[in-house]
Amino acid sequence: MPTAHLTIDPAFPIAPVNRRTFGTFVEHMGRCVYTGIYEPDHATADEDGFRKDVLELTRELGVSVVRYPGGNFVSGYRWEDGVGPREDRPRRLDLAWHSVETNEFGLDEFMRWCAKAGVEPMMALNLGTRGVQEALDLLEYSNHPGGTALSDLRAEHGASPYGVKLWCLGNELDGPWQVGHKTPTEYGRIAAETARAMRMVEPDLQLVACGSSSSKMPLFGTWEREVLRETYEFVDYISCHAYYGNDDGDTASFLASAVDMDHFVDSVTATADHVGAELKSRKRIDISFDEWNVWYGDRSTRTDGPGDQWEVAPRRIEDEYNVTDAVVLGNLLISLLRHSDRVAVACLAQLANVIAPIMTEPGGAAWRQPTFHPFAITSRLASGQVLRVETDSPTVTTAKHGEVTAIDAVATYDDGRLALFAVNRSTEGPIEITVDLGRAGVTSIDEAVIVHDIDPLATNSATAPDRVSAQHFDSAQLKDGKLTLTLPAISWCALSLSA
Ligand code: AHR
Repeated sequence: MPTAHLTIDPAFPIAPVNRRTFGTFVEHMGRCVYTGIYEPDHATADEDGFRKDVLELTRELGVSVVRYPGGNFVSGYRWEDGVGPREDRPRRLDLAWHSVETNEFGLDEFMRWCAKAGVEPMMALNLGTRGVQEALDLLEYSNHPGGTALSDLRAEHGASPYGVKLWCLGNELDGPWQVGHKTPTEYGRIAAETARAMRMVEPDLQLVACGSSSSKMPLFGTWEREVLRETYEFVDYISCHAYYGNDDGDTASFLASAVDMDHFVDSVTATADHVGAELKSRKRIDISFDEWNVWYGDRSTRTDGPGDQWEVAPRRIEDEYNVTDAVVLGNLLISLLRHSDRVAVACLAQLANVIAPIMTEPGGAAWRQPTFHPFAITSRLASGQVLRVETDSPTVTTAKHGEVTAIDAVATYDDGRLALFAVNRSTEGPIEITVDLGRAGVTSIDEAVIVHDIDPLATNSATAPDRVSAQHFDSAQLKDGKLTLTLPAISWCALSLSA
C-alpha cells in the first residue's frame, strides 16, 4: 500500500482559526429563503414563520456568519421594499433569477432569523442599480441608534439597532450577467466613494470590495489591481468567489480542486500586496472568500422546466451532492483554514436548497446533504491556532492541476487539543499515513470520523436522509506518540486528539 507521512508541530502556527471561516450565504434565489429558511405554513414554523427544523440544522452546521441578500439578486434590490407592514410591500421582478420577489421576507426578518440561528449578519449592498445614498440609507436604518428618519422607522418596525459590521460593496460587478455590470474603474470609483461615506458614519465598519467573480474571468488580476488602486485605503477585504464541478467527468482534477483554491488565494493576496507596495501603504488587504462550493453546471438549471415563467421561489440549482462532492468540500475547507493568515471571511454558498448543505421540501422534511458533514465537523473541531502540516505523499496526475499530492491535510491546536483534517484525493486506492506529532504530546484519540462510501456517488434524499453520513474511523491508531491511519480512496477524515 502506498504510504504518506505528515509532520505536525504546535511550534509552527500559521494564524489563529478565524470563526468567520465558517460562514454561509442566504440569497433571495430559488428556494433558499422561501420554503428554505422561511415557510410560515410549515408544521415546524415558529411565530416569525421560520422553519425550526432548518434553524436546528443551521446551528448543527456550526455557521458563524451569513451573507445576505445576494448574490446577483442584490444588484437590482431595493432594501426598503422588504421592511414595514407586509401588506404594503411591493411585488417586484427579480432580473437576476427571472423570478417574482414578494418581499414577504426582508431585512428585519433576516436579522430576527440571525439572532435565532446565533449567527452574525454580513450585508451586501446594491451597487448595480444603486449607489452611495441608498447604501447610507441602509446603514442608517440598520445601525443608527435613533432620532433620524430611518433609525426611527426601524424603531417603528419594532427593531433595535442591528450593529452590522461586515458589508459587501456590491456583488460580482465584473460579470456581464450582473445588473449594473461595470468596468474595474467604474466599480472601483463607486465602491471607494460608498466606503468613504459609510466610514463617515461608522469608521470601524469592515468593508469588502468585489474581486473577480471567478479566477477564470478575462480580467482576473487586472480587475483586482484596478479596483484596489481605487479602494485600497477605504476597504478591508477583497472578495474571491469559486465554484468547482465535475461536469466533464474528470474526477481526478475535480478531487484536486483545492489546489486551484490555494493558487487563487495566493494570486489575489499577491495582487493586493502589489497594490499596497505601489501605494506605499502599510495596510494589508485580506480576503473575503464570500462564495465557494461545489456547483454542477450540467445539473444546475436556470428554470424548473419548459417555459420561462416569472414565478415566486421556483426551484433553482438544487444540486444533489454525493460522497465525492463532500470529500472535495472538506478539502476546500482545508485550503481555507491553511490560508487563515489571509482569508478573514468565507461563506459556503448557499445555506438551504440552492447548492446547499441543507435541503427541504415545501411542507415536508429537511435533511443534510453529504457536504453538510465535513463542514459541520470542521467547524466544531477546528480551534486555537492553525498549524502548518509538512506533507510527504504519493502524487496524482491531473489534467487541470498537474501533479498534486494525493494526501492533503491541515491541523489546529488549542491548549492541548489537536485536530487533524485530511483527505485522500486518489481514486486508485487506500494510502497509509503516519503522523509525527512533534511536541504536541498527544496521548489519546477522542474522536475519529470519516466521510467515505464504497459508492462515491451515493447521495441523501428526503426518503433516505442519512444514506451518507460521517462514520466512526476505526483505522486511526495512536502508539508511542505516533499516529497511523489508512485513508481509503476518495475520503475525508477528522480526528480530535488530546494531550
Ligand atoms: O450563489 C449563486 C450565485 O453565484 C450568486 O448569486 C452569484 O453571486 C454567483 O455567481
